[in-house]
Amino acid sequence: RNLEIERLLQAHEWAAKFYHFLLKNTEHGKAAMEYLRSRGFTDKMIDQFQIGYAPNRWDTLVQFLTKRNFDLAEMERGGLLTQRNDGTGYIDRFRDRVMFPIANRSGRVIAFSGRILGEGQPKYLNSPESKLFSKSRTLYNLHQAKTAIRKQRQIVLFEGFGDVISAWEAGVHNGVATMGTALTESHVAMMRNLADEVIVCYDGDSAGQAAALKSIPLFENVALHVKVAVLRDGLDPDEYIKNFGAERFVDQIIEGAVSTTKFKLIYLKKNHILLEEDGKVAYAREALEVIAQLPSPTEREVYLKELSTEIQIEYETLKQECNVIRQSV
Ligand code: CTP
Ligand code: MN
Ligand code: MN
Ligand code: MN
Ligand code: MN
Repeated sequence: RNLEIERLLQAHEWAAKFYHFLLKNTEHGKAAMEYLRSRGFTDKMIDQFQIGYAPNRWDTLVQFLTKRNFDLAEMERGGLLTQRNDGTGYIDRFRDRVMFPIANRSGRVIAFSGRILGEGQPKYLNSPESKLFSKSRTLYNLHQAKTAIRKQRQIVLFEGFGDVISAWEAGVHNGVATMGTALTESHVAMMRNLADEVIVCYDGDSAGQAAALKSIPLFENVALHVKVAVLRDGLDPDEYIKNFGAERFVDQIIEGAVSTTKFKLIYLKKNHILLEEDGKVAYAREALEVIAQLPSPTEREVYLKELSTEIQIEYETLKQECNVIRQSV
C-alpha cells in the first residue's frame, strides 16, 4: 500500500514535468501558451508553479507512463487516467487543458487541476479524491508559502490558482487557495498550525463575498484572528492585480483588509438603499444586531460612532437601541 502511494507520487512528479515540458517546448503547447500569455502569465510564473499543458489526444500520458513501466490500472486509481467506456483499456484523464499541479505540504505533486482554454465546462477538471488527494485537506501552494507564513504568522487565503499565482508575483508569498469556496475544518486546522492571523481574500462576486462571511466563524472557533480583504465590482484578486497593478493590490486590498465586524457591515449595506428612509432604517437595525454582539464596550462604541456618521443618526440614539438589543438576548 505504501509502495502504491510512492509509485503514484512518482507518476505525478513525472506527469507534472512532462506537461510542463509539453507546454514550454512543443508545438502541442503553443495555443495553451498563447492563452496563458493573454492572461498575463509570465515564464517566471509558469516555471515557479510548474504550469503545464495536456495535449488534445487520448493517449499522451498513457504512452508516457507505459514507457516508464507504470501499471495503468494503478494510475487510473490515482486519477491520472480514466477507463475507456467499453472497458478495453485506459485513456488520459486530462486532455487539451492547462495543467496546474497540486502539491502536498512537502511539495510532492498529489493531483492536477486542468483548465479549459477559454470558455466551456467544466472550467477546471480536477483529479478525483484518491489515496493521494483529498481536496478538503489540501491548500494550494502551501508548500511554497509555508516559509513566509511561519515568518509572518499570517496567511492570505484565496479561492483559486490565478489568484495565488498573481499575488505571488505581486510579492504576496503567504498566499494559499482552497480551490473553490468550500472551506473545511481541516483547512482551518492546517492554517491554525502555522499562523495567528488569516486575511480572507475571496472573489468580489456575490459567491465569494458570501463564502467570506461564512468562513468567519470557522476561524473564530480556533481563535485564528481574521481580517477580510474586500474586492468590489465583482473582480477576483487575479483580475484586480491585472487591472490595477501589484502595488495597488498590496497597499489597498491586502493592507486595507478590514475587521470582521466592518466586513459584516459592508456586506449588509449592499442590500439597502440608504437614500430611502426604509432602507436606512433596515440597514441600521441589521448593523445594530451585529454591533450588539460585540463583547467589548470600546469596540461597540467605535462601530456605533462610525455608523452614526454614516447614516446621520445621533450616536446616543444608536447606543440606546443597541443596549435594548443586548438586553433582549
Ligand atoms: N474550481 C474548480 N472547479 C470548477 C470551478 C472552480 O475546482 N469547475 C476551483 C478552482 O480551483 C478555481 C477556484 O475554484 O481556481 C475558484 O473558482 P473561480 O473563481 O470560478 O475560478 P478562477 O480561479 O477565477 O478561474 P479563472 O480565472 O481561470 O476563470
Ligand atoms: Mn470565484
Ligand atoms: Mn475567481
Ligand atoms: Mn472567473
Ligand atoms: Mn480568475
